Amino acid sequence: METGGSSESPIEPKKTKSKTARKPKENLLKQKSPAEFFAENKNIAGFDNPGKSLYTTVRELVENSLDSAESISELPEVEITIEEIGKSKFNSMIGLVDRERIDEELYDDFETAKAREKRLAKEARTQELHAKNAALGKKVKEPQASKGMKGRGEASFYRVTCKDNGRGMPHDDIPNMFGRVLSGTKYGLKQTRGKFGLGAKMALIWSKMSTGLPIEISSSMKGQSYISFCRLDIDIHRNIPHIHLHEKRDNKERWRGAEIQVVIEGNWTTYRSKILHYMRQMAVITPYAQFLFKFVSDTSDKNVTIRFARRTDIMPPVPIETKYHPSAVDLLLIKRLISETSRENLLQFLQHEFVNIGKSYAERLIGEMGPDFSPKMAVKSLTSQQIVRIHQLFRQAKFDDPSGDCLSPAGEYNLRLGIIKELHPDMVATYSGSAQVFEGHPFMVEAGVSIGGKDVKQFAGDTLQIEKKKGKQEGTIHHFGLYYVALEPPTFLHF
Ligand SMILES: Nc1ncnc2c1ncn2[C@@H]1O[C@H](COP(=O)(O)OP(=O)(O)OP(=O)(O)O)[C@@H](O)[C@H]1O
Ligand SMILES: [Mg+2]
Repeated sequence: METGGSSESPIEPKKTKSKTARKPKENLLKQKSPAEFFAENKNIAGFDNPGKSLYTTVRELVENSLDSAESISELPEVEITIEEIGKSKFNSMIGLVDRERIDEELYDDFETAKAREKRLAKEARTQELHAKNAALGKKVKEPQASKGMKGRGEASFYRVTCKDNGRGMPHDDIPNMFGRVLSGTKYGLKQTRGKFGLGAKMALIWSKMSTGLPIEISSSMKGQSYISFCRLDIDIHRNIPHIHLHEKRDNKERWRGAEIQVVIEGNWTTYRSKILHYMRQMAVITPYAQFLFKFVSDTSDKNVTIRFARRTDIMPPVPIETKYHPSAVDLLLIKRLISETSRENLLQFLQHEFVNIGKSYAERLIGEMGPDFSPKMAVKSLTSQQIVRIHQLFRQAKFDDPSGDCLSPAGEYNLRLGIIKELHPDMVATYSGSAQVFEGHPFMVEAGVSIGGKDVKQFAGDTLQIEKKKGKQEGTIHHFGLYYVALEPPTFLHF
C-alpha cells in the first residue's frame, strides 16, 4: 500500500534534534528456539542465580539417576561430587592466562587507603567485643567474615559429577538427550521424577552461559561391551547438539550406568545447607537408595563427605505406563490419539485407546453420541464437529476411576524407615492413602510426621516448632509429605 509521502513530495523530512531518536524499526517476525527461550528465562527452571543453579544442577542430575536406576528395578547407587575450582585452575582449564591487576581503581572492590583503615578498625573492635563476651561466658554469634574484599565480579566455579548404576543410554541417543531441549524418554503416562525433557539441558545451558565448557557423558547399558563417551554443548539458536567428541571406549570392568559431568558457576557458601538438606530429604524418601555426597575444595576444612546408607532392599513397584482416562483428555489429545491409532473403527478406538471403556460401554457411548455415529465407522473419518461431540460426552459421562498402577508410591514402610534412619525421632507417624482421582488423573497422598531427633536445626525450613504451652511437648516436628500425582504426564511432587 502506498503512503502519502512519495518521492515527489517537496517537503524534506524535518531533522530531529535528538541524536538518539531513531526511525521506528519495522516489526520483524522472529522465531525463538526452545533452547533460546529457556536460556533467556532460566529462572523458570530454577536457574535464577549461580547459587540456585548449583543446587538445581545437583537436583536434576540426582533425579535423573534415580529415575534411571528405578526404571530397571536396580537399587540406586548415586555418587555426587561437587569440586570447587579456583580461579587460576579455571583459567588454565579454558586456556586463559592469569593476569595481575594493574589499574586497581578500575575494580569494583577497590578501597581507598582511608576506607580500608576504617574497615579494619571496625573489624578489630568487633573481634575484641566478641572475645570479651566469650570470656564472660556469654552466648556469642560468630563474627561475620568481612564482605569488604570480595568484588561482585569474582565468580566461583564448580565441577559437578553424578554417577549412577542405572540403565545408561543408547550410544546414538546421547547427543539428543543432552543437547536438544525438550527431548526425553519420560513423556509417557507413568510416574517419573523427570518429565519435561529439560533438566539436564538446563545444566548444560547454564554451563555454556557461565563457563563456556561442554558437558561430558559416559554411559554403558546392559550387554554393551563398551562405554559411550560424549562431550558436547548445545547450539542454542538451532536447539541441536554440538558434538565435540562421541566415541566408544573399552569397558573392561563391565560397568553399567551413567556419569554426567558439568562445570558451572555456582555459590557453595550460600547454597551449602540447601544442597545438604536436599540430599537428606532424598535419603529419607528413598531409603532403598544409597547416596555418596562429596564436596571437595583446596581448603580441606571446607570438605564434606556424607554417605547416606541404604536401609532396605524393598523398592516401590515399577509404575506401569497407562492409557488415557476419558474424562482427562482434551480435544487436541483426542485428535492426536485418532491420528496415531492403529485401530480402524470407532468402537475399537474407544475400547483400546482409553482406560475404563469396555466393549458394551463403548457401544452405549456411541449410541449416545447421535445418529451420525456408528461402531463400525472409520475413526480417521471423524469430522471436527464429531470429535467435539465425543469430547463433550467424555466430560459428562460417568467412568470408573483409573487404577493407581501408573504411580509408584514409596509406601508407609519406606517412608517410616527413611525418617527413622535419617532423623532418629522420638515419635513418627506415617500415612499412605489409596489411589484417588482428580478429573481423571490418578494421584496418591503419602505423608510422614516426626517429633524430635537429631540435627533438628538443619530442617528449620521444613519444621513446625511446637510452642511450650501448658504441658505440651516441646520439640520439633518434621513433616515430609509426598504427593504422587499422575497428571498429564504424571507428576512427582514432594516437599
Ligand atoms: N543418568 C541418566 N541415566 C540414563 N538416562 C538419562 C540420565 N540422565 C538423563 N537421561 C536421559 O536423558 C533424558 C533427558 O534428561 P532431562 O533431565 O533433560 O529430561 P527428563 O529427565 O526427561 O525431564 P525433566 O526435564 O523433568 O528432568 C531423560 O529423559 C533420560 O532418558
Ligand atoms: Mg531430568
